[in-house]
Amino acid sequence: MKRRAFMAWFAALAVQPAILPARAQQPAKPRRLEQFELDVPFVPTKQEVVEAMLDLAGVTAKDVVYDLGCGDGRIVVTAAHKYGARGVGVDIDPERIKEADERAKKDGVTHRVEFILGNLFDADIHDATVVTLYLLPEINLKLKPKLLRELKPGTRIVSHDFSMGRDWPPEKTVRIGRDTIYLWTIPKR
Ligand SMILES: C[S@@+](CC[C@H](N)C(=O)[O-])C[C@H]1O[C@@H](n2cnc3c(N)ncnc32)[C@H](O)[C@@H]1O
Repeated sequence: MKRRAFMAWFAALAVQPAILPARAQQPAKPRRLEQFELDVPFVPTKQEVVEAMLDLAGVTAKDVVYDLGCGDGRIVVTAAHKYGARGVGVDIDPERIKEADERAKKDGVTHRVEFILGNLFDADIHDATVVTLYLLPEINLKLKPKLLRELKPGTRIVSHDFSMGRDWPPEKTVRIGRDTIYLWTIPKR
């Protein structure tokens, strides 16, 4: 084969996956579970504080409660089980989502709740009427623009232990033993 013809044949081979050996065509391995980064470690909210958070937000059966970084789903499942609300939990850790699904099944609320595996910063939160948080001060500050941009006016936000910084003071602050919970409402635009 002449040199030019050989080069053309070789170039065609390089861009033609159909004629590569089977092994070379295999897709990349799926993402390994440990390849996600937690912005906040898992520390569950005590049940007494969960109920105080939902009470502070005034949750009723008309609400849609989102817990961003939902852990084992206790806030969302309590909102559905005790208050009759609908709920959505978002967590980046598949183990937490598994636990949350199991909790919803055990408490018989799977028809009212949904747990989504994903990053809370990418979550679609537009239909929330209540958002609960137990994150960290800097993560609350990072999340604040998304909350103000995407939530409807009147949506209540309750955060366990951490505020939203000096320029967004809470409307109410409640202490329960060593824990503190804060309430805000999304203002009119
Ligand atoms: C302090 S725990 C709070 C759990 C639950 N909200 C509660 O109050 O019991 C924080 C949770 O956020 C989750 N998390 C951390 N970074 C996240 C991220 N970027 N997106 C979604 N979840 C995240 C962790 O996996 C953990 O379950």
